[in-house]
Amino acid sequence: MPSIVTVEPVVAIAGRITIPPDKSIAHRAAILAALSEGENQIVGYPDAADPQSTLAVLGALGVEVEEREDSLFVQGVGRQGLRASDGPLDCGNSGTTMRLMAGVLAGQSFPSALIGDDSLSQRPMERIAEPLRRMGASIELDDGHAPIRIQGNSLSGITYTLPTASAQVKSCILLAGLMADGPTTVIEPSPSRDHTERMLGLTTLDLGGERRIAIDPAMDLPPRIWIVPRDFSAAAFFLVAGSIVPTATLVMRQVGLNPSRAALLDVLSAMGARIEVTNERTRAYEPIGDIRVNAPESGLHAVDVAGDLIPNLIDEIPILAVAAACAEGTTTIRDAAELRVKETDRLAATAQFLRAMGAQVEELDDGLVIEGGRPLQGATVDSQGDHRIAMAEAVAALTASGPTTIHNADCIEVSFPTFWEELDGMAGGGIVSSPA
Ligand code: S3P
Repeated sequence: MPSIVTVEPVVAIAGRITIPPDKSIAHRAAILAALSEGENQIVGYPDAADPQSTLAVLGALGVEVEEREDSLFVQGVGRQGLRASDGPLDCGNSGTTMRLMAGVLAGQSFPSALIGDDSLSQRPMERIAEPLRRMGASIELDDGHAPIRIQGNSLSGITYTLPTASAQVKSCILLAGLMADGPTTVIEPSPSRDHTERMLGLTTLDLGGERRIAIDPAMDLPPRIWIVPRDFSAAAFFLVAGSIVPTATLVMRQVGLNPSRAALLDVLSAMGARIEVTNERTRAYEPIGDIRVNAPESGLHAVDVAGDLIPNLIDEIPILAVAAACAEGTTTIRDAAELRVKETDRLAATAQFLRAMGAQVEELDDGLVIEGGRPLQGATVDSQGDHRIAMAEAVAALTASGPTTIHNADCIEVSFPTFWEELDGMAGGGIVSSPA
């Protein structure tokens, strides 16, 4: 996988893009399969590095996984059937692996340590340690960060109000709740992605501004066939590509359309994008559909995005900023301070690469103000090791006035290993290259 990639501008793109399976759903399917008793089948598990980190961690805890054709077969060991690992559990770059597995391991009868790469070791972990300690877990951090040392304990059910909308923290507590001695309730201020609730069959009580999700540890966890839809967050890059390149028609099939993830569809449509969703259906607890995007008739225009919408497009903000840079008018994105604690500080990283390409961007504490409509120029940029920044840079490069060279481009492996092939393919080849 090349670490330096050059992307040439294009005027026309077309074709069908194969989107990788959803990594958020895949992590959860693997973990819930491992905690069930008996054989589970997961159809379409991603090859991407993050979901593979979850499999490696489960493997180190004694879970047997076999790959046959397009499926993984996971032998569930039951909620108390995991066994201590010989060494630290390496979560790589994956925050979801680390935070969800911390919830599972807090309720086991053995000690564990979760470690990650440099980026993951700088991300905040007190947000999970604090509620887990309230449940009775013994958790040690290194100044609020990984390594996370967990001494497994018996846990008590709690009622916990999330300080910020975070599906990883919510899911960590719900998974720990599966091992507790009584019911646990998580109260969330605004809706974050709800895959864990759907997969566990939990109901959410919406009490006007406050959402309560309860889990009873007495619930059954039968083995299942899990089907992983295509990842909306990966499709997002091509939704924007199809909305900023002058002549474009792209089709993506069987893409997850969970409303707690897919707010970018509405935002791009409000900006003037021509997006059509067909063949909508529900598969394995999740809404999916086929998406077609055509270049807009008269270009994109600016939009303001803030408030409760933000958690529903949290991973799409760097690519939304690219759309905003290509749109007429001033786009303001607010209430997105959580972006500062992702794989990079995504507000800073996005402002940096867009400015390098000639856009006018103001960084706010919790967002970005983007003056759209200035032509982008080719530039040399760096992903800073963040997969979503690398892909956002590549899409911005499509409309620049010259070639753009992206350093640290290999990090796309984290979520979308075939990204460069798909990007090149939609232009008929010849726009993506790397030094020999
Ligand atoms: C995820 C939740 C989000 C998201 C991340 C995946 C998940 O993080 O940014 O890429 O799978 O639960 P937060 O829960 O920290 O907002």
